[in-house]
Amino acid sequence: MTTAEQARIALNRVKDSGSGRSVIELGWLDQIRVNPPKVIVRLNLPGFAQSQRERLVQETRGFLLEMEDIEEVQIEVGNPPPSNAPIGQAGHGQAIELNSIPGVKKVIAVSSGKGGVGKSTVAVNLACALSQQGLKVGLLDADIYGPNIPTMLGVANRTPEVLGSGADQQIIPIESCGVAMVSMGLLIEENQPVIWRGPMLNGIIRQFLYQTLWGERDFLVVDLPPGTGDAQLSLAQSVPMAGVLIVTTPQKVSLQDARRGLAMFKQMNVPVIGIVENMSSFVPPDRPDKSYPLFGIGGGQQLADETDVPLLVKVPIEMPLQEGGNAGQPIVDNRPDSISSEAFQRLANSVCAYVLETT
Ligand SMILES: Nc1ncnc2c1ncn2[C@@H]1O[C@H](COP(=O)(O)OP(=O)(O)O)[C@@H](O)[C@H]1O
Ligand SMILES: [Mg+2]
Repeated sequence: MTTAEQARIALNRVKDSGSGRSVIELGWLDQIRVNPPKVIVRLNLPGFAQSQRERLVQETRGFLLEMEDIEEVQIEVGNPPPSNAPIGQAGHGQAIELNSIPGVKKVIAVSSGKGGVGKSTVAVNLACALSQQGLKVGLLDADIYGPNIPTMLGVANRTPEVLGSGADQQIIPIESCGVAMVSMGLLIEENQPVIWRGPMLNGIIRQFLYQTLWGERDFLVVDLPPGTGDAQLSLAQSVPMAGVLIVTTPQKVSLQDARRGLAMFKQMNVPVIGIVENMSSFVPPDRPDKSYPLFGIGGGQQLADETDVPLLVKVPIEMPLQEGGNAGQPIVDNRPDSISSEAFQRLANSVCAYVLETT
């Protein structure tokens, strides 16, 4: 007769796509009662795993039904109780082993709730501003659905050299503006839709992290896709992170999404360094003394007050910023005296100060 222990062993095959770990290892299996031909299971999934809910339930059911005398599986899904205990970066009381990247000192992620808020613009200009300060900087474009960093750095036509083969392959990053960068955009044809399933995405991000010849880097800046999905999880469960920056616009809708993103990182115990409010106001090129709050006022500050995370800078809407992005010339390199360049330089200073304070 099937025992609960055998059922647990079967459920070791049900895996979280982000970490590759099973629901048993992650402590997501809350209860199991085996009373052949019936099994009752309760899974407790953390918020960020809800996107995998359907697959996890299906696989749980499938593997249990494969067992000889099981004919009925009842599955309940809940959320884990909030924990007050300090836990590892991966959260949920589970100590997941994190592997640092040889030569890379600090990993900083740039994330946002919504797309189009300027996350890649912030990541590129932050990386360039850090490099201008004489630091060695890497930039990983982990937005594998919309990789546009190569365009922003003016290297979209380059193909990185790949050494070795199979599991030993190593990508040599492309250098631009003093920054060493890798991106899915360098490896796929332009205009090709990228339809990656969660598990593949996890593999690709890990490959970018560990199979790139980063060399010695003071900072590795990671541009994440928008939202609270597998890429965020994959990164947080792979490398120890110095912290994350949350990019938002002042609008209410953008704030709601940013709030969710911020909560996810807090839940995973990844330190949130601060908030970057982008597109704060419009500065007309012919009247740099004027500024117009096109998307409202005070959103970034409101989020900062609510979450007790500092608002680090406000970056205005400036035409050269957008033009620089399209032309492959980041504004901090191209127009270092512009208002937004100054904001990015201040952001780089804040990130350095944060890292010094916390280590
Ligand atoms: N502060 C800004 N001023 C002017 N244009 C901006 C600003 N921030 C971003 N943009 C432009 O908005 C578009 C979206 O920005 P992007 O960085 O690609 O956003 P995300 O990575 O969040 O999707 C790009 O064309 C970019 O050049
Ligand atoms: Mg982007």
